This record gives sequence, structure tokens and C-alpha cells, in this order.
Amino acid sequence: MPSPQEILTELKKVKYPGFTRDIVSFGLIKDIEVAYAGVTVALAAPAAKPEVIDQIVADVRKTVAAMQGVPAVNVQVEQATPPQQRAAAMPAKKPIPAVKHIVAVASGKGGVGKSTVAVNLALALRALGWRTGLMDADVYGPSVAMMVGALEAVKLTDDRRIIPLERYGIRYLSMALFINDQTPVIWRGPMVTKLETEFLFNVEWGELDCLVLDLPPGTGDAQLTITQRVALAGGVIVTTPQDLALLDVKRGVTMFQEVGVPVLGVVENMSYYLCRKCGHRHEIFAHGGGARYAEELGVPFLGELPIVREVREGGDNARPIVATQPTHAVAAAFKSIASRVIEQLEHHGN
Ligand SMILES: Nc1ncnc2c1ncn2[C@@H]1O[C@H](COP(=O)(O)OP(=O)(O)OP(=O)(O)O)[C@@H](O)[C@H]1O
Ligand SMILES: [Mg+2]
Repeated sequence: MPSPQEILTELKKVKYPGFTRDIVSFGLIKDIEVAYAGVTVALAAPAAKPEVIDQIVADVRKTVAAMQGVPAVNVQVEQATPPQQRAAAMPAKKPIPAVKHIVAVASGKGGVGKSTVAVNLALALRALGWRTGLMDADVYGPSVAMMVGALEAVKLTDDRRIIPLERYGIRYLSMALFINDQTPVIWRGPMVTKLETEFLFNVEWGELDCLVLDLPPGTGDAQLTITQRVALAGGVIVTTPQDLALLDVKRGVTMFQEVGVPVLGVVENMSYYLCRKCGHRHEIFAHGGGARYAEELGVPFLGELPIVREVREGGDNARPIVATQPTHAVAAAFKSIASRVIEQLEHHGN
């Protein structure tokens, strides 16, 4: 009989259906047990369609059965707890009064354009007639507030609630407005996300159709804290084509699903280069991964965005493209993504 290690090595030859990577590197193998009667392989429940899971099970069975000295193979797929059940076991998520939908924008890793998408998505929702707010929940990263407007002093209501800033027709706030070199150390420690979520409820947002939250990059504890405490209507995941991002997208999907938040969809940013001289699109990277990943993970694909110099310039100068160049092709792409987000929110009954 082969050892569990030998079996694991052999399983590295099994590719995740549709991808060049193997199921071991995807983290699908939970346990391998070798007993007299045969080998039992336990698989983590992949966030994939049933056909894909069946395919993986069949491939694992075939691969292990082909190894010398294996009398029988038993493949078990761990059952994912239904989202409703999991959500029931969690602390109650708080809604924000008078805010209809709270949408979180997340990414598996930094620098993929999450804040750019959050800002322009908020503005595109506004352009479609929604009263929209934007909140930067990324304490350490560059601020969405800086992408929208100047860091003005924030005013308080009589009962000491924070009044958001307003520009281009949207209300916005950033944690960065409250943090500087003199900020007490507690704001720099692990308590920060907890305080931050409390903070979110202390803002006088007024009536909003949608509040867009720019989450910190990644899918760790900070992100989980927010998704567990705030009553989110859905999550949007931003990815780029140039890295092997399936795992990142999958982590994002899993993060939302684990807390019972619907994934509204995946956005592929910096998908291709749109030349402003010739107006042509140049495929720099093999784009289209976002759509494939979304399909693979059974979540909607919301659209792709080109790399455009004006998008970066707009971000650097607080002149976001959707607000300042509404007829630009990229602004149109953002609006199409925004209308899909609205469709998805309606679809999920929010
Ligand atoms: N479609 C695009 N075309 C051109 N530049 C872009 C595009 N999307 C983002 N950028 C630029 O890429 C850089 C990173 O974008 P952004 O800050 O939005 O990423 P992020 O994912 O929020 O990063 P972080 O993880 O640091 O928060 C910025 O300079 C931004 O202007
Ligand atoms: Mg950011």
C-alpha cells in the first residue's frame, strides 16, 4: 500500500477542471487515510458546480485506484454548511438605518484596483439614479476619500454623529480622515476593525439606496469582522488577469458565502489596454480569466474594465472618470457593471 504522502504526490497530477493547476495546490485535499481495506481521500467542499465536483471525485478515484497495491478507494466530499445555517450561528448583523443596500467591494490581494472600482461603481450607481454613499474601510491603504475629493474637516451633528462629506453627488467618508501620526495606538492594533464597524453606524448617512464599502485588500480577519457585523446586501470581488488569481477570487467568494452574504459578482479590472491614440484594445494579458473564474465558482461575472491612463489620473487628482468624463468608454463600462449590480441586488431580494 502506498503511504498518504505518496498518494498526495500522485494527486498533484490531478488538475482542477478547466485549469492548469492541480487540486492539491488548490487546497482541496483535507485528509488521506490508508487502511487495510483501502484508501480514503477526504476533499474539502470546493465552491464549484456539482458537475465540477463530480469530475474531481472521479479523477481522484481513478488516480488513486491506479496506484499499485490499492485495493479500494473511497472519496468523501466534505459537506459545506448551508449559508443560512451558518449565518444563524453568527452574531446578529446590524443594518444601517435608512440605508437600503450595503455592498462591499473586496479583493483577494492588494493593488488590483479595488478602490478605483469602489469609487467609480458608487458614482455609476449615482448616475443610474441611486442615492449613493461610499465608505473607505481600508484604514492603512490609500484612501477612496482622496480619489473623490479633498480631505476636508468632518463636521458633527448636535448629537455627535459624523456628517459625511459630499462630492459628485455622493456622500463619502474615509477612516483615513480620522487617523494620523498622533492617532492613539489602539487604532493601529487589531481592535481597529471592531471600532471601525462601530464607527460606520455612527455616521449620519441619511437616506441612501446604496452604501459602497471599500474593504481592505485580502480575505483575513479584518474583512471577516466587517462582513460579520454589517448587514451586507452583497459583495463584489475585483480581480485582474495578470496573476494566477483564481485562488484569490475563490477566497473572496468563500469569505462572503461563509457569512451568508450573496456574491453579486466578479469584476475583471485592467483587463486589456485601451489606446487613447488609436482607440483600439490591446490584449496585453490573456484576459477573460475573471469570466471563467466566475463561471467556475458559480457566481455572476459583472464585466471587465480596460487599463486607461485617465482612470489612474482621475484617481490621483480626485477627478474620478465616471463623474468627470461620463461619456468615456470606461465610464460606460462602469455603468454597465453598476446596472448588473442593481440586477443582482434585486435578484437576491434586497
Ligand atoms: N482600469 C485602470 N486603468 C488604469 N489604472 C488603474 C485602473 N484601475 C486601477 N488603476 C490604478 O492602479 C493603482 C491601484 O489601484 P487601487 O488603488 O484602486 O487598487 P486597490 O486594489 O484599492 O489597492 P490597495 O490594495 O492598495 O488598496 C492606482 O494607481 C489606480 O489609479
Ligand atoms: Mg485600495
